[in-house]
Amino acid sequence: MKLLVVGSGGREHALAWKLAESPRVQKVFVAPGNGGTATETGVENAPVSGTRGLIDFCKREHIHLTVVGPEAPLAEGMVDAFRDAGLKIFGPTRAAAQLEASKDFAKRFMVRHGLPTARHRSFEDAAAAKAYVAGEGAPIVVKADGLAAGKGVVVAATREEANAAIDAMLGERRFGAAGSRVVIEEFLAGEEASFIVMCDGTHVLPLATSQDHKRLRDGDEGPNTGGMGAYSPAPLVTPEIHARVMREIILPAVQGMTQDGHPYVGFLYAGLMIDAEGNAKTLEFNCRLGDPESQPILLRLKSDLLELIEHALAGTLDQAEAQWDRRCALGVVLAAAGYPDEPRKGDRIEGLPAPAPDCRVFHAGTRLDGDALVTNGGRVMCVTALGDSLRIARTRVYEAVEQIRFDGMQFRRDIGHRGLKKSRAGSS
Ligand SMILES: Nc1ncnc2c1ncn2[C@@H]1O[C@H](COP(=O)(O)OP(=O)(O)O)[C@@H](O)[C@H]1O
Ligand SMILES: [Mg+2]
Repeated sequence: MKLLVVGSGGREHALAWKLAESPRVQKVFVAPGNGGTATETGVENAPVSGTRGLIDFCKREHIHLTVVGPEAPLAEGMVDAFRDAGLKIFGPTRAAAQLEASKDFAKRFMVRHGLPTARHRSFEDAAAAKAYVAGEGAPIVVKADGLAAGKGVVVAATREEANAAIDAMLGERRFGAAGSRVVIEEFLAGEEASFIVMCDGTHVLPLATSQDHKRLRDGDEGPNTGGMGAYSPAPLVTPEIHARVMREIILPAVQGMTQDGHPYVGFLYAGLMIDAEGNAKTLEFNCRLGDPESQPILLRLKSDLLELIEHALAGTLDQAEAQWDRRCALGVVLAAAGYPDEPRKGDRIEGLPAPAPDCRVFHAGTRLDGDALVTNGGRVMCVTALGDSLRIARTRVYEAVEQIRFDGMQFRRDIGHRGLKKSRAGSS
């Protein structure tokens, strides 16, 4: 059978690679894909865009199933349109995707269903928002309501910073309509983890745990990015914390969505803040897999991903089991010159290592220019490897990274540092 993956990032390359491994799959199309999906075994790029165009493509090519990678098409209702056209697709409907697309929706949802999350209020009026900040004090967090490509959150150390963020969002409309409402919430201390599950509307299949690194530079400094690296499992998420997160956050969320009339089918990602006592609060929900978390997670997945997705679409995820490689996986993102503000495109990439069973390069911002591979976006690729420990996986990744060259290449040399500290302390 033939499948379609929608998107062009590292997450989509990993999804397509994993799906192409399924013995029942003849070919995986990726629309629009990148330089890596163009050359991946069993994978082919489809230069198709827009929901209408993709639906026509699926009918013409007799695509068995479509998997949507990024949030934007989900928030725009791609799943609803495919279902209306009688096509099989895995992802939340537009209504269900509001869990990510509107932080105000998500916060009201969490309060209504008793999920642990930071105390908050939402505002459309700048003066009222500032009065709230004056009453609460700093540090405090200001968030644009809508999708802002990871740039809509300001963790303000002072009231002045919070007020400036309010002015930028509500006054200057820096994020357009996405920032016409802001959520202001309590600052939570702790360590973050990504908790990603598959849902079939009723049942939940948790994927392996992971952690990512958002800041551009070593030591978690510099500007926020889409993510500079990730690893799985996350030693922070002990079996006890895992059970509590399932009980206190994930299962109530899935039940709550059904109760509210928006049964959730798809990948669901809870961004967690875990405090020193092991209490987890939800920072946000994403309605898709994480990028770069997917790359290490999918490299560890031993089960047939197509089978898991089919269970999710049939409502039988309770009968599915995911097998994970016992090894650790770690991925390091190589970013283009100028990332994250103004990434440069067109730099020639050389020295890519051949794929190995324990090390793969998942492409994101790359493009084939004739036979040459060139950069085509901010996050260029994610070099991902398996190892018996996080340390060994990390050594393997950096060996591969050393071979890859392009002008202006940026990457962090300390991916996994938190996990390594924890495994050394013996808490995992
Ligand atoms: N209440 C909070 N307390 C402390 N840090 C926060 C809080 N909310 C968000 N952050 C920080 O800001 C980052 C981005 O916020 P998040 O809600 O995940 O939005 P998005 O991913 O859409 O930008 C988080 O990963 C976290 O580091
Ligand atoms: Mg986030």
